[in-house]
Amino acid sequence: MANVELQRATASAAGKVILLGEHVVVHGHPALVAGIDRGVRVTIVPGSAAGAAAEVDPALASAIALAARLLRLDGRPFAVDIAGDLPVGMGLGSSAALAVALLRALAASAGETLRDADAAAHAHEIERLFHGTPSGVDSTAATYGGVLWFEAGPPLHHECLTLRAPMPLVVVLSRTRHATSRTVGGLRERAVAAPEVYRPVFAAIAALVGAARAALENDERARLGALMTMNHGLLRACGVSTPELDALVEAALDAGALGAKLTGGGGGGAVIALPAAEPERLLAALTDAGHECFAVVVGGPPSSGARLGES
Ligand code: MEV
Repeated sequence: MANVELQRATASAAGKVILLGEHVVVHGHPALVAGIDRGVRVTIVPGSAAGAAAEVDPALASAIALAARLLRLDGRPFAVDIAGDLPVGMGLGSSAALAVALLRALAASAGETLRDADAAAHAHEIERLFHGTPSGVDSTAATYGGVLWFEAGPPLHHECLTLRAPMPLVVVLSRTRHATSRTVGGLRERAVAAPEVYRPVFAAIAALVGAARAALENDERARLGALMTMNHGLLRACGVSTPELDALVEAALDAGALGAKLTGGGGGGAVIALPAAEPERLLAALTDAGHECFAVVVGGPPSSGARLGES
């Protein structure tokens, strides 16, 4: 980018929930992912040294350095202020949202507007620092938001789906951080060792993803919920769930959810549950049972940027 003075600038990006298809998306199958109305906001403060957060977190420091290099802004002194309302380490796409917000804020700080395709591609690159071999689903969702049909390719491909009405979901947090690199790596090893076992299981999940797309687009929520719960069962069979996540899925179903499943890498993190109607009753039942949870809306008008503020 041109050799301009950096200006103070802020940008945001949304977190995500994977509705169905995590893990198999790494193995060439599609996934359904949705941006949520919670996200990460990054402010670039020109002139200061690297931010305190970056000093204590080497991965964050590397991400900031890589973002500056990708935008050809390395060598410029700036600090990074990170805020937002997205739980970190819960499989809700916080690292991808951070990467996209950071790239957008840095570009804005140099007086440029980053094209979405460039934001997604650069964020995918930065995600490799955090997760090894990400499919790109998180960085794509953080960039575009909405409800997406995603395929890792190559080439990477996504389609924006139109829902008939915004859809509420309840996110239930476990007490354990997700372990995406470990669960993705472990599943890959098992799949390489016994392809005859895992190939049909992956194909079965892919069939659920295809059926769920139709259910989503036709607003058939009971069917969608059933498909989500089946997806959880197969993820559990693949060894990426935990007893804690299984118990949260059961708790959500007992509390009247139409369906529930782990979301993201598993090994910890969060569960998503589809409420039968408005989410309040499900939220109250899960909260009364001692679970930390909150409602999100997917497929509505974009709101994360507006809520977190951009300049
Ligand atoms: C993580 O949000 C989703 C996984 O499928 C990993 C990936 O696609 O990069 C588990």
